Amino acid sequence: MSFEGKIRRAAERNKTRTVLALDLEDPDPQRLLTRSREIIQEVNRLICAIKINRQLVMALGLKPVAESILNLAKVVALPTIMDAKLNDVGHTNLFMARTYFDLGFDAVIASPVVGWENGLDAVFEAANSRSKAVILLTYMSNPGAEAFYSLKAAQPNGNARPIFEILTDLALRWKAHGVVVGATKPEIIARVRELAGANLSIYSPGIGPQGGHPVTAMDAGATYLIVGRAIYNSPDPSRAAMELRLPP
Ligand code: XMP
Repeated sequence: MSFEGKIRRAAERNKTRTVLALDLEDPDPQRLLTRSREIIQEVNRLICAIKINRQLVMALGLKPVAESILNLAKVVALPTIMDAKLNDVGHTNLFMARTYFDLGFDAVIASPVVGWENGLDAVFEAANSRSKAVILLTYMSNPGAEAFYSLKAAQPNGNARPIFEILTDLALRWKAHGVVVGATKPEIIARVRELAGANLSIYSPGIGPQGGHPVTAMDAGATYLIVGRAIYNSPDPSRAAMELRLPP
């Protein structure tokens, strides 16, 4: 089944649009692994996917991530996203994407600013040939993001457009599965939704500690929320995940 099918099925089954960002930190790798697994066990019926960051892979290593985290995600029937933020030339992007896909990840996050030819072309090819997905960073949630993503760039026809709109067009043209747009910018989510219609899923991080609000982000047009600290740092993670449950 495709990534899209898996996440939609999990969202319907668990009545939620929350993607868990599993970004725990611990200097002891064994404790980090145990706690990461516990969080998945606690909230797996209240989320629709698990997103893993490079920081977890750096701390645990690829093999333990695959054997302990990706296998557990499979057991609880949740798709996995590798937040690799691929942002290099083609051959190294391809190596990383292939490694993550072959390890068992269902999707990778990449930055579209490297362009298509010898940038992301081979990543999309690798994903499409394996029924995996590519999600593109389109507008970050941090305050500094505006300086780049809202910048207006001249078009070949002489008109100027904000960079995030150009990136949204690229995501549509390249048939990306989805885009990441910060929950802190509901007006940007609304504009991306307007441009993309039903053709792109919008993944929205920045809920809680960064000031984004789940209902505001969903009302603006987000498809899924990406939530880390507001769940795993909560004294009661399942309650926190339950409160974020917005039926599809
Ligand atoms: P928190 O703990 O703030 O973590 O819920 C957010 C997760 O989403 C990833 N991510 C982003 N986070 N702005 C963010 O704040 C972005 O534009 C963005 N893109 C991805 C982040 O790495 C963490 O896993």
